[in-house]
Amino acid sequence: MNGRSCLAIVLAAGEGTRMRSRTPKVLHTIGNRTLLEHVLSTAMAAGSAGIAVVLGPDHDAVAKEARRVAPQAAIFKQTERLGTAHAVLSAREALAAKPADVLVMFGDTPLIQVDTLARLRGALADGAAVAVLGFTPADPTGYGRLITDATGLAAIREHKDASEAERAIGFCNGGLMALAGEHALAILARIGNSNANREYYLTDAVAVARDMGLNAVAIETSEDDVRGINTKAQLAEAESVLQQRLRAAAMEAGVTMVAPETVFLSSDTKFGKDVTIEPNVVFGPGVTVEDGAVIRAFSHVEGAHVGKGARVGPFARLRPGAQLGTDVHIGNFVEIKAATIEDGAKANHLAYIGDARVGAGANIGAGTITCNYDGYGKHKTDIGAGAFIGTNSSLVAPVKIGDGAYIGSGSVITKDVPAEALALGRGQQTIKEGWAKRLREARILSKNGSPAAKKP
Ligand code: UD1
Ligand code: MG
Repeated sequence: MNGRSCLAIVLAAGEGTRMRSRTPKVLHTIGNRTLLEHVLSTAMAAGSAGIAVVLGPDHDAVAKEARRVAPQAAIFKQTERLGTAHAVLSAREALAAKPADVLVMFGDTPLIQVDTLARLRGALADGAAVAVLGFTPADPTGYGRLITDATGLAAIREHKDASEAERAIGFCNGGLMALAGEHALAILARIGNSNANREYYLTDAVAVARDMGLNAVAIETSEDDVRGINTKAQLAEAESVLQQRLRAAAMEAGVTMVAPETVFLSSDTKFGKDVTIEPNVVFGPGVTVEDGAVIRAFSHVEGAHVGKGARVGPFARLRPGAQLGTDVHIGNFVEIKAATIEDGAKANHLAYIGDARVGAGANIGAGTITCNYDGYGKHKTDIGAGAFIGTNSSLVAPVKIGDGAYIGSGSVITKDVPAEALALGRGQQTIKEGWAKRLREARILSKNGSPAAKKP
C-alpha cells in the first residue's frame, strides 16, 4: 500500500452469547462468507502482510477458518476475557516484531472497507500514534464517545464511564483502530482497568498516547463500515448492507439487473461483461458467469460456471460442479449437478442431469433423468456430441450415449448406445381396435340396470 509494513490483529475472543447459536459468532456468514473471512480478506487487501487472530478457549473451529483464509496467520489465545486492550496484548509476540502499522480489527465487524483502513494507515504515515474511527450513529447509547480538544482527539470515554455532558456527544468510537507499531507495546502496557467494567480498554490508548506526548486522531466513517454484529437481527442487517454493496459493484462493472433488490449475491460471485440477471435470482458461493450470459428469473445458482452467451432459467437450478459451455441453454425446472454441458447443448425443460457430460450441441428432451444414484454410489452418464435424447428418457448410469445417437422418447437406457445409432428402450405399443367404444357401451348398459358388464 504505502510501503510501510502492517500487522492486523483481529479480536475474536468474544462468546457471542446473544447469537443464541452453537456456531461461534465469527463463523456466521454474510454473502456466504464467514464474518472472519470478511475481516481477514479486507485486512490483507489493505496491505496487512502480518495477521494475528486472538481467540477464546475452545475456538478450534475459528482457528481452522483463520488458517484456511490466511495460512500465514498467527493464532493467539486469550484465556480470560479482560477487555479489548488485554486481548490485543495476547498477541504481544506479533507486536514485538515492531511493524510500522498495527491495525486492531474486530472479528464481528465485517463491513469495514479497504479504503477506510487505508485512511487509518494514512493517519499513521502522517505522524499519528493512534488513529481511531469516528462515526455519528442515530443512537449513540452504548458506544464510546470521542472527546476532542484544541489539539485533536484527547480521549475515548466508554458509555458506562461517561458523564452526562460526555454522553451528549454524538461522535462515537467505531471500535477498530490503528496504532503506530513503534509505540504500540508501550501504549498498551500503560493501560489500566480502573473503570466501571474493571476491564483493560483499548480505547484508553488515546489518553495514554496523549500523556506520552504522542498524537491521536479520529478519522470519520459511515455507520455501516463499523456495524458490529451481536444478534441474528444485526446479522441480517449486515447482510442487507453487504448485498447492496455487491449489487452496486456488479452494476458498476456492467451487469444489468432488472430488479437488483431481489437478487442475492455471494461475496465471490464473478461476472463478465453484458451479463443480465432477471429478478429473484440467488447466487450461492463459487459462481462465475461469463460475457453475455442471461440468468432468467427465479433461478438458483451455486458452485457453477456459466459460459459465454448461455441462457439459464427461468426456474433453473445449477448445483455445485455445473459447468456450462458457450451458448448452452438450460430452461425451466432443469437441475444440473456435477455435470459439464458442452458448447451449444440444450436442456430446455424439466430434466435432471447429474454426474454427467453432455457433448456439444446435444439436445436433452423434457423429462430426461440421469439415474446417477443406485442407492449406494454415484455413477456417470456420458452423452456424446450432437446426441438427441427423446423426452421422458431415463439414462441409467453408468452409461454412454455415443456421438449423434438418437434415443426414442420414453426410453429406459441401461446399456451403452453406439454413435449414430437409434435406441428404443420402452415396451412395444399395442392397438386393440374398437376397445374404447365397447367399454363405453358396456358402462351405459350397466347404468341402465343391465347385468354388470365385463371389460371388453
Ligand atoms: C467497543 C469499544 C467502544 C466502541 C464499540 C464499537 C472498547 C473498550 N470499547 O465496545 O468504544 O464504541 O466497540 O462497537 O474497545 N474482545 C476480545 N477480548 C476481550 C474483549 C473483547 O477478544 O476481552 C473482542 C470481542 O470479541 C469483539 C471486540 O473485541 O470482537 C470488541 O469487544 P466488545 O465487547 O464488542 O466491545 P464494545 O463493548 O462493543
Ligand atoms: Mg461490540
